Amino acid sequence: MAQLRPQRLNGKVAIITGAGRGIGYAIGTRFAEEGAHVVVAEIDRDTVYTAAEDFSARGTEALAYPIDVGDIDAVQKMIADVVQGFGQLDILVNNAGLSERVPMLEMTPDQWDTLQRVNQRAVFFCMQAAVRQMIAQVPDAVIEAGRADRSYGKIINLSSVAGRRGRADAMHYSVSKAAVITMTQGTAMAMAPYGINVNAICPSVVPTTMWERLDRAMGASLGLPPGEFYRQRVEKIPLKRAGTAEQIAAMATFLASEDGDYITGQTYNVDGGSELN
Ligand SMILES: NC(=O)c1ccc[n+]([C@@H]2O[C@H](COP(=O)([O-])OP(=O)(O)OC[C@H]3O[C@@H](n4cnc5c(N)ncnc54)[C@H](O)[C@@H]3O)[C@@H](O)[C@H]2O)c1
Repeated sequence: MAQLRPQRLNGKVAIITGAGRGIGYAIGTRFAEEGAHVVVAEIDRDTVYTAAEDFSARGTEALAYPIDVGDIDAVQKMIADVVQGFGQLDILVNNAGLSERVPMLEMTPDQWDTLQRVNQRAVFFCMQAAVRQMIAQVPDAVIEAGRADRSYGKIINLSSVAGRRGRADAMHYSVSKAAVITMTQGTAMAMAPYGINVNAICPSVVPTTMWERLDRAMGASLGLPPGEFYRQRVEKIPLKRAGTAEQIAAMATFLASEDGDYITGQTYNVDGGSELN
């Protein structure tokens, strides 16, 4: 159980958006096992409480925080509540995301905006709210010097291999994930003087609810039975297997821990060799 892991995040306070299921849930589990207190910032009331209970069972404190991360006022209130409850904020993982198949000629402005609101706009404003708090935790001497001797905060954003090159049937999604990469770079540069590290992860195929839905939608459009589009997609991965949410969580843990203190502004593919940039 918890004690089997090295406690690399001992006492850290981490907000993970969309941690109720899938990749976010795996990151929350791993962070809790590594000693972090995890805030489950999740819109789905069916999973937000159970995820927090599961994380608490790993031996640290977890907080269920039902929230729509697209609501900027609610995000700011969440940061204030977390600091009131835990006294600090050390890590933010922007994991919540939407995905859907929409061919270019069928895309509506509403579909475009709904997805960008969560995948792009919320990522920016969650980062802005979090770094305001993280900067408040940086010693005055570091702020005056404009250089830090260690890390004073970590932000990890979930992008996607779809952000590395355009997708004909989900252009709004690939644009949003490309934006996550450039926002990661920009925020890393803005926060470097404070010692706040900002990095991104690009998964390719991880079997979660998001992928089940994509498989059904793509399969229906191509006349394939359920599971077949997924199988064909996995066959195209050089390692010939899908990734796991736990493998994404391992990268997030590395970046969040002291081992990642000298890394900022980077985007890591955890994708079985799908992309080489
Ligand atoms: N699964 C993959 O293969 C894959 C590949 C590349 C990138 N990603 C990215 O990884 C992240 C997690 O993906 P997943 O597969 O676990 O997805 P998922 O759909 O299984 O889980 C997403 C979670 O985010 C929550 N969420 C959605 N909108 C929210 C909002 N407005 N506020 C708060 N919570 C909200 C959902 O309720 C859900 O719990 C996403 O950003 C996704 O784009 C996933």
